[in-house]
Amino acid sequence: MTMLRSVIKGVGAALPEKILTNAEIAARVDTNDAWITQRTGIKQRHVAEEGEKTSDLATKAAQAALAHAGLGIDAIDAIIVATTTPDETFPATATRVQANLGMHRGFAFDVQAVCSGFIYGLTIADQMIRGGLVRKVLVIGAETMSRLLDWNDRTTCILFGDGAGAVVLQAESGKGDSSDRGILSSHLFSDGRQHDLLYVTGGPSTSKNVGSIKMQGREVFRHAVDHMADVVLHALKENNMTVADLDWLVPHQANLRILNATAEKLAMPMEKIIVTVDKHGNTSAASIPLALASAVAEGKFKPGQLLALEALGGGFTWGAVLLRW
Ligand code: UT7
Repeated sequence: MTMLRSVIKGVGAALPEKILTNAEIAARVDTNDAWITQRTGIKQRHVAEEGEKTSDLATKAAQAALAHAGLGIDAIDAIIVATTTPDETFPATATRVQANLGMHRGFAFDVQAVCSGFIYGLTIADQMIRGGLVRKVLVIGAETMSRLLDWNDRTTCILFGDGAGAVVLQAESGKGDSSDRGILSSHLFSDGRQHDLLYVTGGPSTSKNVGSIKMQGREVFRHAVDHMADVVLHALKENNMTVADLDWLVPHQANLRILNATAEKLAMPMEKIIVTVDKHGNTSAASIPLALASAVAEGKFKPGQLLALEALGGGFTWGAVLLRW
């Protein structure tokens, strides 16, 4: 039986020009390049200039994805921006991006699931496509995490970076089995009991300020290692597949040690895992589309290959998307 599938037709990335190295952070707080490299794998991150907004990065990534897909903005029915660092408390950053792109039809909205935001956004877009509401959607992950950092807290300020990545998702007809191109399945989870392990100290209905990130790193690390492997195994099982079927893992980029541990648990070689955390740091909802764009630029994915995208973030939220390139 034929069915609609959501296929990635284009990817794009945007990173602020300004690069902040570990040595530059070490000049501000009590840390050093060796500690950061050994504990996280991060060597540098991009940081937005004063006045450079999440919507600016999102717009550039979207333009790159449209160009890669060979499409104009008039072809797009909806825009989803996954972000935890919106330009303003309201309206949605996605509506600013819509205006920036010159899109005067359709609709645009934000999704907030912190580092899992892109997985959530992709899932919503896929459901809207398969439900027949839209045919082409821009799904963007965009963040200016630098705005949420306490630059005196060495346990968090070394970890995060700014950037945006985008994909154009398009409806295509498939056979309805796992040989189809496009998204095969999505799997979302959250557990609100874990709030205190990773959160921001502010917000409109609490402090009325933006606040800064607080994290119990070791605990988050433990949960991340558990869930990041499990959710991929769950996605594969739901499709009657095994790790042997997987060509590429595109994980949220939080810490190289988490990626190593996930690879080990899945018995996957690191060569099949896309790694950008060394260059970008943790860019929250932007990390997976940035990793996709980087892998595409390097010509890594071949048509027909099986990819698993996955993330864990504050909430906790976590999830995976299995797709055929
Ligand atoms: O995207 C959302 C998901 N987020 C994550 O996945 C982050 C998960 N957590 C992590 O990546 C790691 O837990 C961190 C990188 C945050 C920390 O690494 P760790 O190996 O868990 O270190 P730790 O927190 O256990 O700290 C070890 C030591 C401590 O000193 P003592 O108590 O052993 O004397 C820290 O005070 O390292 C110290 N430390 C630092 N030293 C130099 C903590 N931060 C730093 C630093 N530079 N920046």
